[in-house]
Amino acid sequence: MYLTAEEENVLDGEQGETLRKAMEILVALGDIYGADGLIPVKSAQIAGVSYKTMGDAGLEWISDLEGTVKVPSILNPAGMDMVRWKEMGIEPEFAEKQLEIIAAYEKLGISSKCTCTPYYLEGFSATCGDHLAWSESSAVSYANSVIGARTNREGGPSALSAALVGKTANYGYHLDENRVPTVSVVVDHELSGSDYGALGYIAGKEIGNRVPMFHLASTPTSDELKGLGAAMAASGAVALYHVEGVTPEAKQVNFDKPDETITIQRSQLDEVYETIIGNEDDLECDIVAVGCPHCSPEELNRIADLLEGKKIEKELWVCTSREVAQRYPDVVKRIEESGSKVLCDTCMVVSPATEGHNCMMVNSGKALAYVPGMCKVPAKIGSLETCIKRAGGDN
Ligand code: F3S
Repeated sequence: MYLTAEEENVLDGEQGETLRKAMEILVALGDIYGADGLIPVKSAQIAGVSYKTMGDAGLEWISDLEGTVKVPSILNPAGMDMVRWKEMGIEPEFAEKQLEIIAAYEKLGISSKCTCTPYYLEGFSATCGDHLAWSESSAVSYANSVIGARTNREGGPSALSAALVGKTANYGYHLDENRVPTVSVVVDHELSGSDYGALGYIAGKEIGNRVPMFHLASTPTSDELKGLGAAMAASGAVALYHVEGVTPEAKQVNFDKPDETITIQRSQLDEVYETIIGNEDDLECDIVAVGCPHCSPEELNRIADLLEGKKIEKELWVCTSREVAQRYPDVVKRIEESGSKVLCDTCMVVSPATEGHNCMMVNSGKALAYVPGMCKVPAKIGSLETCIKRAGGDN
C-alpha cells in the first residue's frame, strides 16, 4: 500500500507509540484488503465501549493510549446510562469500570455522547460521498445506505486508529465497485413500522454480506430504513443496501439487475411476529424495550403520543442519545409521565441490566436478533403500538 512520506514517518514511530500502533493497524488492514493508500475520513464512531463486552483487558488497552484524535469522534452505547445507572440496577463495581473506560476515551478527545445514531448529532452529520470510519453495524448501514456516505464496518480498534490518524485504508465500501447490488429482494406487500425490522431480520439471514437492491411496494421513512438496515446487519452482515427509487445511490446510479432475486412473503413476516426467539414456550414478556437503534426525535414524539395519559405496568425502556433527549425535554417528560424510562448512553443489548428478565418485547429486528444471545433473554417482536400495549399502556 502506498504511504506518503508523512504517513511513513508516523509508521516509523516518529510521532509517538500510540500513533505508530494506530498506523500499523490501518496499514495491516490495507494490505490484507488490497487498498491502494489511505484516504481522509470526516468522522469516526468507535464501538467497544460497554464494560460488559470490553472487560478489564479492553480497559487496559484503551488506558495505555496517548494523543488526540484528528477528526470528530464519538462512542457507541455503553453498558449504562451515565446519570441514571443506579435506577437501572447497575452494580457500583460495573459503573466504576464503565466510567473509567469513558474517561480513557475522553482523554483522547473522543466525545462521550455514546450513541449508535451519531448522524442525529451536531458535528457528526454526513452527506452523500463522505468517507467515514464508523463501527457500529446499524450506523454503518445507515451511513452507507440512507445517507450514501462511505464506510466499512470498522472494528473498535480500527475505528479508533482511523480517529487518531484522521484517515482509513481505501478498500471495501469506499470504492464504487463494491457498492454495486449483487442480489435483488422483492417485497410485493405494503409494510410499515416494525415490519421493516422483521423484513431485515429475515432478509439478513438470506443475504449474508452481499449488497441487496430492494424493490418495495411501499415507500419507507428514514426511521423505517434505519430499522431495516439494523436488522440485516444483525441477522446477516449487510453493511450497504439500496432501495429502488428511495436511497441516494439507487436514484443516482443506473445499476445492472443482479442475477439472483429473493422474494419475501407476508407469511414469513407473520411467522417472525408469532415466534419467541430463544425459547419455545409461550412466555409472558416482563420488559419492553424500544429505541434500537436509538430513537430519532420523530420516534420519541410518536412514543409520547401513544403513551399520552397512560400509566404503564411493566418496565418500559425507551433508548436514545443524550443529545436528542436533551434537545426535547418536554417530549421526554411526556414519555416518563407514564412510568416509562427514557435511557441515554446505553441500550437493551449492551447493558447488563436487562439480563435475568423472563422475556423482552421489542419493536426492532436487530434487538430480536441480539437480545437472546447477548442478554440470554428470549425476545419477541411487535409493532410500537403492541409494545406499548404489552407494557400495560392501554389503560
Ligand atoms: Fe444501538 Fe444497541 Fe440497537 S447499540 S443498534 S440500540 S443493539
